Amino acid sequence: MSAILQARELVSGYGDVRILHAVDLSVAEGGITAVLGSNGAGKTTLFRTLAGLLAAGAGHIEFCGSPIETLPSHVRVERGVVLVPEGRLVFPDMSVEENLRIGSVNARARSKCSKTLSTVYDLFPRLDERRSQAAGTLSGGEQQMLALGRGLMALPKVLLLDEPTLGLAPTMAKQIFEIIPNLVELGLSILIAEQDVHRTLQCAQFGYVLENGKVAVSGTGPELMQTPAVSEAFLGH
Ligand SMILES: Nc1ncnc2c1ncn2[C@@H]1O[C@H](COP(=O)(O)OP(=O)(O)OP(=O)(O)O)[C@@H](O)[C@H]1O
Ligand SMILES: [Mg+2]
Repeated sequence: MSAILQARELVSGYGDVRILHAVDLSVAEGGITAVLGSNGAGKTTLFRTLAGLLAAGAGHIEFCGSPIETLPSHVRVERGVVLVPEGRLVFPDMSVEENLRIGSVNARARSKCSKTLSTVYDLFPRLDERRSQAAGTLSGGEQQMLALGRGLMALPKVLLLDEPTLGLAPTMAKQIFEIIPNLVELGLSILIAEQDVHRTLQCAQFGYVLENGKVAVSGTGPELMQTPAVSEAFLGH
């Protein structure tokens, strides 16, 4: 599979504090790629840098073969690189539908907003039932669905999902994981950061383990499950 998004020797951080140290990573076109790592490993920093919310200090990011590391985040969204941030960040006082519509403000998505909205409601019937409910009154799982739906409204080509099941009850986390392969069927490529290693490696074709801002190991799901970095750090044996 060819790469739709690629980071090469990517460096980033906050002020003088360097968090990512020369990260190399590829997101396969039409596939699910995982980023695993314990708290503070740099997953969110990586995702924010790929999305352009945090400037790359050095290194390269290529999307569909073109460099994007100097482009502002809204231009990356326009091209199809869309982040669903950790912690959901929905607008609590706005309705479900208003939150969704905000997702398609970019020029490419705007004209297709109504059509995308019905695709999102098909994927998430719970959002359909709650169209006019204030987003802040949704349950945690529903808010995650809304955050995902809002990301889809931007018509992503690659979707960066930062810990979509964080803090969710197991049944809700399971539902989120069931939806991810459907997104691939819609033609998306996915990069997902997760703590739930078992479930993530079941659905991802390839994964990277970040440790202290560096890729410690990478491989297919079965390969990673057998590496000490994964089994000791995440699986408790
Ligand atoms: N705004 C910030 N300013 C300074 N340091 C930060 C900032 N945000 C994150 N960091 C630091 O960067 C490091 C990596 O954090 P990051 O959020 O990328 O980790 P993570 O792998 O996403 O962790 P988690 O699993 O807890 O979400 C941590 O040491 C964190 O303290
Ligand atoms: Mg994080």
